Amino acid sequence: MLRYLCILAVITQLLSSANSEAPAYIKQCRRDDPQLVDCFIAALEHLRPYLASGIPEIELPPVEPFKMDSLALQLTEGPQGYKITLKNMDAYGASSYEVKSLQLGQNGGEPFKARLVIPKLKIEAKYTSSGVLLIIPASGGGDFHAVFDGVTADLTGKTSERNGYLHVDSLSIVLDVKKIDMNISRAFNNNRILLEATNLFLRDNSRLVLDAMQGQLQKKLASEFGKLANQLLKNVPISQFYSN
Ligand SMILES: *[C@@H]1O[C@H](CO)[C@@H](O)[C@H](O)[C@H]1NC(C)=O
Repeated sequence: MLRYLCILAVITQLLSSANSEAPAYIKQCRRDDPQLVDCFIAALEHLRPYLASGIPEIELPPVEPFKMDSLALQLTEGPQGYKITLKNMDAYGASSYEVKSLQLGQNGGEPFKARLVIPKLKIEAKYTSSGVLLIIPASGGGDFHAVFDGVTADLTGKTSERNGYLHVDSLSIVLDVKKIDMNISRAFNNNRILLEATNLFLRDNSRLVLDAMQGQLQKKLASEFGKLANQLLKNVPISQFYSN
């Protein structure tokens, strides 16, 4: 009987130590690390390849490409104003983020802040447009391509702790884009004049288009990022962030 209990104790111990071992996508930090913030930054960067391809065991979808639904952009004013709707957006490059700074928050108190830089974000989408562009009727649809260079994303959010798990309660994102390059293709039955007029407009007004996108893009990204973060956090207890 005693022997049986001993074996049981050993097995229980083995199981529980296996349990507290973190999954491969978690890089653990020491609670007493004097550079704890740097360790968390490294842990966030360690996640990159796992986020890129997704983590099936916790049902985390891949962020390459990062999928977004539609954005509706009003680009010129007036009843015949030029409007573009982007649908089925796929963004490539989001997982090559670098964490430039991190400020830890307090659960239920001070927000956390993080600044991420994404060197290049490529966006592919279907677009439809309506209205008049300059003097030409510009209703149509086709493919939309864009490259955002030098994207800085400032994240601010609040967390709370529930039964040993962290939860992101709110998240906001402010984007800054250094340069944007965009065009359309396969539109207007490939009518060159309409295609070129639209592309000329997009090239000369890339800031306008970006400003029209900004608010909606920030809200969508914040909501998608928040969902991703919580999908991960509900599967990894806080104790697994630490090796001690
Ligand atoms: C269209 O834009 C994409 C993304 O910026 C770029 O890769 C491509 O070369 C552009 N095509 C033309 C014809 O300008």
